[in-house]
Amino acid sequence: MTTLLVTGGAGFIGSNLVRMIAHEGRYRVVVFDALTYAGNLENLDGCINGSLVSFVHGNILDRDLVRSTLEHHKVDSVIHLAAESHVDRSIDSAAPFIETNVRGTLELLEASRSCGISRFLHVSTDEVYGTLGAEDAPFTESTPLDPTSPYAASKAASDLLVTSFVRTHGINAVITRCSNNYGPFQFPEKFIPLMTLNAIEQRAMPIYGDGKQVRDWLHVDDHCRGLLLALEAGTSGEIYNLGGFAERVNMHVVHEILRLTKRDESLIEYVADRKAHDRRYSIDSRKAQQELGWMPSCTFEDGLRQTIAWYEDHPEWCSHVRSGEYRRFYESHYNTSL
Ligand code: NAD
Ligand code: DAU
Repeated sequence: MTTLLVTGGAGFIGSNLVRMIAHEGRYRVVVFDALTYAGNLENLDGCINGSLVSFVHGNILDRDLVRSTLEHHKVDSVIHLAAESHVDRSIDSAAPFIETNVRGTLELLEASRSCGISRFLHVSTDEVYGTLGAEDAPFTESTPLDPTSPYAASKAASDLLVTSFVRTHGINAVITRCSNNYGPFQFPEKFIPLMTLNAIEQRAMPIYGDGKQVRDWLHVDDHCRGLLLALEAGTSGEIYNLGGFAERVNMHVVHEILRLTKRDESLIEYVADRKAHDRRYSIDSRKAQQELGWMPSCTFEDGLRQTIAWYEDHPEWCSHVRSGEYRRFYESHYNTSL
């Protein structure tokens, strides 16, 4: 059975991906994660069993540990999700984004090359293309890179490194660029889980600027299916856009969350805008449809309803994340401190 290394597997998308892979049972998985503030082993509770799914606590900047993990577990393929992922944090402090997203990706590429990894899937973002006006055509894979935030710049740099390793060293690698994900286990610094938990707890819901920015929402399960298709059927050196076919204005999403949580508009609070706030993302996924046979199957309305129900049904996960208690899950299970 093929063994995959999933970096960032205890974060939001990574943990949903690992659950999907474990459920399908076609691969053995080694989760490699530093468990930063965004990593949470509770996301994989019941999933890590030492045989099909194992966990290594490590930083992708640690080349020796990455290399020994690849060798020890006889890893065939890498799915690279580990990253600093939140735009607002990159505006406050860009350095960790350069360290993990740029230098960390380089370390992982070097280790993968020296260990003869047969396939490398790099998970990137539509934010590398910059921002669109209301009437602009969607981003395609050949839209020039024009990142706005330090986060987006660090992801664009990591994409270029991956491509350079394909060209220079002949590694077998594919890049995916997806739109905004939502779903279970998303850390409540991101828009949908933050607004959902604030609505449930009757706290103020902070809207940046005029709230008329547009994001394209992709359910995390649809994204994960796209990742597995890109891993298995993508052409080395190619980039595949994965979009949700669900462009929505932020205020529309907030009103939907208020309706579904049965709260009223008094919770809405307009706050200062994000610096250099990208106005609109829109993504053309025709290449992934044609070459990978990928299409998202979840409508935004169904996905949002299910996601809100998940947060309502998991008060313990939510309270652990809100209080910081989740940081102790690792310590109690592995008898060591983070
Ligand atoms: P996340 O912040 O929820 O999780 C990131 C994970 O990476 C965490 O578990 C964290 O502990 C781990 N990590 C961070 N630095 C590390 C390091 N140096 N070494 C090892 N592990 C480290 O992120 P996410 O939302 O799940 O995003 C996953 C990937 O998908 C990222 O590369 C992100 O850029 C990309 N992406 C996310 C979205 C989205 O909407 N969430 C959209 C497009 C692309
Ligand atoms: O497009 C893909 C990207 O989507 C990923 O690469 C990033 O990792 C991910 O964080 C996300 O970036 P965004 O900046 O689009 O997502 P965020 O959830 O931070 O914000 C979504 C929109 O909501 C954006 O227009 C900013 C706005 N917002 C966000 C927060 C946290 C608010 O109005 N209020 C808030 O409190």
